[in-house]
Amino acid sequence: MKLHQKVAAEVEAAFVKAQLGDYPIILQPAKNADFGDYQINGVMGAAKKTKQNPRELAQRVADILTSSDLIDAATVAGPGFINLRLNSNQLAQQIHHAVNDSRLGISKSATPQTVVIDYSSPNLAKEMHVGHLRSSIIGDSLNRILSFLGHEVIPQNHVGDWGTQFGMLVAYLVEQKQSGRADLELADLEQFYRNAKVRFDEDETFANTAREYVVKLQSGDEQVLTLWRQFVQTSLAHANTVYQKLGLKLNNSHVKGESAYNDQLQSTVDELAHQGLAVDSQGAKVVFLEEFKNQDDEPAAFIIQKKGGGFLYASTDLACLRYRINQLHGNRLLYVVDARQSLHFAELFTIARKAGWLPDTTQAEHVPFGTMMGKDGKPFKTRSGDTVKLITLLDEAVSRASALVKAKNPALSEEEAAHIGQVVGIGAIKYADLSKNRTSDYVFDWDSMLSFEGNTAPYLQYAYTRVQSIFRKAENPPQEAQITLNEPLEKQLALELLRFEDVLNNVADTAYPHYLANYLYHIATLFSRFYESCPILKANTEAIRASRLQLARLIGLTLKEGLALLGIDTLEAM
Ligand code: ARG
Repeated sequence: MKLHQKVAAEVEAAFVKAQLGDYPIILQPAKNADFGDYQINGVMGAAKKTKQNPRELAQRVADILTSSDLIDAATVAGPGFINLRLNSNQLAQQIHHAVNDSRLGISKSATPQTVVIDYSSPNLAKEMHVGHLRSSIIGDSLNRILSFLGHEVIPQNHVGDWGTQFGMLVAYLVEQKQSGRADLELADLEQFYRNAKVRFDEDETFANTAREYVVKLQSGDEQVLTLWRQFVQTSLAHANTVYQKLGLKLNNSHVKGESAYNDQLQSTVDELAHQGLAVDSQGAKVVFLEEFKNQDDEPAAFIIQKKGGGFLYASTDLACLRYRINQLHGNRLLYVVDARQSLHFAELFTIARKAGWLPDTTQAEHVPFGTMMGKDGKPFKTRSGDTVKLITLLDEAVSRASALVKAKNPALSEEEAAHIGQVVGIGAIKYADLSKNRTSDYVFDWDSMLSFEGNTAPYLQYAYTRVQSIFRKAENPPQEAQITLNEPLEKQLALELLRFEDVLNNVADTAYPHYLANYLYHIATLFSRFYESCPILKANTEAIRASRLQLARLIGLTLKEGLALLGIDTLEAM
């Protein structure tokens, strides 16, 4: 069981004994380790409510708590605070259990859910660009963490593979095939899109053909569909190259693009109309939402079918949501999408609830994230102002990191430097993103993300290799040993290591991976202090040496597992 839960159970029992059973307890890890390991707040409120003297009540609770095996001391600090000091032997036992368990003592959820996570979801008309980086990285990390905690995760890559742009792209593909240049042109999708757009704007005949293709696509013309499929496959292959470089868990089986919902769009709209939720407005079908007033204090209009019958992004998302509930049986739907789409999702979920499609028992959450900025404080672009292709960015990360490790350690062979560069470069990009609160914009800066100091991937990866090097130096380290926590720093480390499960559960609940990143950084800094002040290999006695090696082992395992859950690899040496 997680440490926090154990302590909470003790406190709860003490509250019951003190006849405060239904009073909410506020239990927190202590802010200052000098006073204790945990802190209980809220006794003041309980005392007021039950008309008791707060200090006396606190003392009564403290006395009960002191008799617990887990707790060495409970001291009343102010009228409403109790500081708890946990028993070192109990902590040592839990560390012993964690270090010898393949899951590091972390249990799976007692109430596993089917979690559908919508992430990456690029528009296939163009090459993936930096705008898709955040969704891909955050979504993949949530996928890993929720899976580790025993949930069934179904990733969904809601690629944009439908819409008028594809008529233009198919028309251009036909032209390129005629001149034998199709393969060449398709190698760079960004350029392909731009060339097609130029043709569309300059040549009326081409533009008309493109429009015809849109109609043919929508009416299911087999010939045009074949060409469209070819384009989509090529674009997906480009995306897969990016996913492989990033080491994402996404593959083709998770692709369920906008086009997949075509057949359901009309019935979805009809059903909303039938329920009276959608009404005709200037030829279009619209759901008006009182809950979302616009600037003029009028209900927001959620358009689900255009005048003339065309469907939109919103119509697809409605059909898609139903699919995720009815076919995939999701009990929790996460949408890892740019914060600028917040209103869209808020409205979407509201309509789905009203229509009875989204039951109360199913959570639907938009997991928003901010924009990736350049050092100039503007959205990240190339020097010439173009969007940056993701593949270029990843290659640059790897080559920068390779050069860096080569400079640090010139003895490395080209191959070794390239491999380490790969792990460090990709890790740096991911960690720079995952270590920040996702809701804010963040500045993409090579120097800070590739630094070996501070809250970065290289720092954590390096900390891991330092732990591993201890084990290389320790000849025949004992597999198992009794753990003793005598030094305050040892105890602090133990407490922190035992919080791993709480941290993961917190990330699972809130979908904020930066809690995990910050936790790992804290572990790494504690390790560094521990390493300096508590000799491990040269400890005074064999027993202390063996005990400290176990602590170091758990630090290493925690860093490795934690980074893996963020989608970041580790190396045994760098
Ligand atoms: N393709 C969209 C974009 O690039 C993101 C799709 C997100 N998922 C969804 N179900 N709407 O902005």
